[in-house]
Amino acid sequence: MVGRQRRRESLVFAALIPTLIALSAAGDTFVPGDRLEDGSSLVSSDGSFKLGFFTPGSRISGIWTVVWVANRDSPLPNRTGILSISINGSLSLFDSKGVVYWSTPSTRAAGPVAKLLDDANFVVAGAGGGEYAWQSFDHPTNTLLPGMKLWVDRRTGLTKNLTSWKSDDEPGAGDYTFFLDPDGDPQIFLLEGTKRVFSGVPDMRSYSMFKLLFVSNADEAYYQFSNRNKSVLSRLVVQSKGLIQRLVWIESEGEGEGEWSVFWSGPTDRCEGFRFCGIFGICDANESPLCNCLQGFDPKSPENWNLMDWKDGCRRRTAVDCQNGTDGFVLVANAKLPDTTMVVVNEMGREECREGCLRNCSCTAYAIKEILDGGRSGCMLWSGALTDLRVYDNGGQDLFVRLARADIVTVPLHFTVVLGSCPIVKRQNEEMAKSRELDLPLFDLAAIVAATNHFSTDNLLGEGGFGPVYKGRLEGKQEVAVKRLAKSSSQGVEQFMNEVRLIAKLQHRNLVRLLGCCIDGEERLLIYEYMPNRGLDSFLFGNTKGVLLDWATRWRIITGVARGLLYLHQDSRFRIIHRDLKAGNVLLDDDMNPKISDFGMARIFAGDETEGITRRVVGTYGYMSPEYAMDGSFSVKSDVFSFGVLVLEIISGRRNRGILHPVRKLNLLAGGLLSGYPIPMVEVLKCIQIGLLCVQDRPEDRPEMAAVVLMLGGDSGGLPHPKKPEFVAARERAEGSSTSSRGLTRTFNDITVSDMGGR
Ligand SMILES: *[C@@H]1O[C@H](CO)[C@@H](O)[C@H](O)[C@H]1NC(C)=O
Ligand SMILES: *[C@@H]1O[C@H](CO)[C@@H](O)[C@H](O)[C@H]1NC(C)=O
Ligand SMILES: *[C@@H]1O[C@H](CO)[C@@H](O)[C@H](O)[C@H]1NC(C)=O
Ligand SMILES: *[C@@H]1O[C@H](CO)[C@@H](O)[C@H](O)[C@H]1NC(C)=O
Ligand SMILES: *[C@@H]1O[C@H](CO)[C@@H](O)[C@H](O)[C@H]1NC(C)=O
Ligand SMILES: *[C@@H]1O[C@H](CO)[C@@H](O)[C@H](O)[C@H]1NC(C)=O
Repeated sequence: MVGRQRRRESLVFAALIPTLIALSAAGDTFVPGDRLEDGSSLVSSDGSFKLGFFTPGSRISGIWTVVWVANRDSPLPNRTGILSISINGSLSLFDSKGVVYWSTPSTRAAGPVAKLLDDANFVVAGAGGGEYAWQSFDHPTNTLLPGMKLWVDRRTGLTKNLTSWKSDDEPGAGDYTFFLDPDGDPQIFLLEGTKRVFSGVPDMRSYSMFKLLFVSNADEAYYQFSNRNKSVLSRLVVQSKGLIQRLVWIESEGEGEGEWSVFWSGPTDRCEGFRFCGIFGICDANESPLCNCLQGFDPKSPENWNLMDWKDGCRRRTAVDCQNGTDGFVLVANAKLPDTTMVVVNEMGREECREGCLRNCSCTAYAIKEILDGGRSGCMLWSGALTDLRVYDNGGQDLFVRLARADIVTVPLHFTVVLGSCPIVKRQNEEMAKSRELDLPLFDLAAIVAATNHFSTDNLLGEGGFGPVYKGRLEGKQEVAVKRLAKSSSQGVEQFMNEVRLIAKLQHRNLVRLLGCCIDGEERLLIYEYMPNRGLDSFLFGNTKGVLLDWATRWRIITGVARGLLYLHQDSRFRIIHRDLKAGNVLLDDDMNPKISDFGMARIFAGDETEGITRRVVGTYGYMSPEYAMDGSFSVKSDVFSFGVLVLEIISGRRNRGILHPVRKLNLLAGGLLSGYPIPMVEVLKCIQIGLLCVQDRPEDRPEMAAVVLMLGGDSGGLPHPKKPEFVAARERAEGSSTSSRGLTRTFNDITVSDMGGR
């Protein structure tokens, strides 16, 4: 029976600030017969952590950070507490009367020793070593330190959660729990009581400072992190007011002690409320309203929805077909995947995953989960309603949502689209395959392994459709980008080499240069020149870099990409269709000159092409022309379409996604374009118009790249007007309004260029 008293004592761990190591002289071990009294402490051998008593709110000076509390729910009444370890290995904490406030089970370990380790784990082991009989890491409180696990044992159901303190002064278990839910695809939830208030750890990628690990197998699932740099302290804490934060210790520059700085904190915005937008709703923190229905879905309660009460969610406009194989998918890019409680995960490849979803009528969406090491990928299949879906500006994953054919439309300025089956891809001229001799350097696998530090995640530049890309430094110090092709290619060595030689022959200042390749066993590697400024996408869609792109740079990029594409289409000896032109495939050199990358990759990958048919879906969905998306037919005009999308993205700074926004303006202010730079509006408007000409529904209406290059160079007076997209026309008919087109401003009335006059 412990009364609630003002002054309480608790046993704690505290982080020792490195400059203050000298404060402590105590040892790190503790054996039967020893007594740790209030006022004394154990200190880990490297001085990083100390175990001692504290009084919340008063006796912890600024230099201590409490990272673990033994008797969090049974505080001692005063400062007479004693910690001891008995001969049977049981730790116990008692007061002057011998009343026990906290204890651990006894163990069979002979000659038990308690020890405070350098990583803050307080352990009990036998004198002979061996497994720990007990360890504090198995009993986390509100803090996750490197080496600790947020964990669930699938066999026994045992869990290790984090639970907040009651308040900043009360270490007792508070209202918020951070726990790992093993059902379906494991995910992490922050609970308030039993209510899920937040899911996922958005900082789920590795940073240079620390490495994150998420493991799930038949026996267990856990989340863990480690610090890459031992001199950097980092911890994850569930704060008493319901925030989950990653804190990093920053040494102060001068004499002072330094401080914990918030590296990441969540929930950070309203999108992160659980099921915030209801079923089939999608949240975008940068949009107003925050919630929208997925393409092909309408609000269930339109009135509530318009009042920004989104909890009823959305419902399907057209029922999926299932029988006739006509359903398709819409891509939601940069998504935080929907609630995965009911998800089924298997190891199917991309195409099988899609087919698997189509085959099962209850499947509503799929995603490919990239597992970099070993080149394997996983297939995630959702059934039933999708909830808890949001999109980020950058990062996140691709999610494919099943729709009935009728709802698969291209939407102007969203251009979201989908794939039906993707039938015949004509093999390009046979003579192309019979490639001419070119001495393309063949790299040794060992050299590439060394150059990329064993394909280390630290060297990872990005993840393309065909596999991860790593930065490497060859022995001669030259920096290169190494593309490691996914193992799914069934292509033979000779065919691969033929294709690679073909690519190597393509040389243009707006194409990334292939330096060589490497084939070794299952490994297929392509070695490219390294582009220090990386992809255009990070500049366009990043939060801050957009302002670096003044108009002159954007203009140079647009014209450069146009020339590179023209070369692929016409000027090279062969007619090459890129098929995956997008911001991420436009790389920037030191001077921000654009270079198209990944050209020809689609062909390299058409491994099952022997009968002139490919089942492999290539391309990136937001950039696909309607005819390619629907019927799989592609031509240079489908590249022109992708180019048009890219131009509009370069101007607007907004990415195309699979969300149907009721009103989305091509807002030049939001794109960072107008932030302080004088811009020639005539050029901007010309580019917008050319972009729109390129994204017309019908391929025959779109200009060829040669014409585009001419238009970019000429004045805009004689440019044709783009035709009204069929989708808009159909809508307007349905709504009973006029179908007449009044040119640019009428047809594309969601483009606003009017509010720029005064700038
Ligand atoms: C400390 O608390 C114990 C248990 O309530 C009590 O027996 C003891 O007298 C107290 N000692 C002091 C010094 O207050
Ligand atoms: C272990 O030793 C402590 C102290 O001697 C005692 O209180 C406790 O009951 C013992 N536990 C077992 C399981 O024997
Ligand atoms: C962890 O949290 C889950 C969900 O609230 C709960 O079922 C489980 O019992 C908790 N585990 C512990 C050890 O408190
Ligand atoms: C580790 O961090 C310290 C302090 O920030 C820095 O000085 C040091 O260079 C880092 N070491 C490595 C290997 O990154
Ligand atoms: C599917 O096929 C059946 C039989 O051919 C036909 O009656 C039905 O209308 C088709 N459904 C759709 C959505 O095309
Ligand atoms: C279809 O998916 C549901 C939900 O994932 C699953 O329970 C069912 O077994 C699947 N059916 C088939 C035929 O695979």
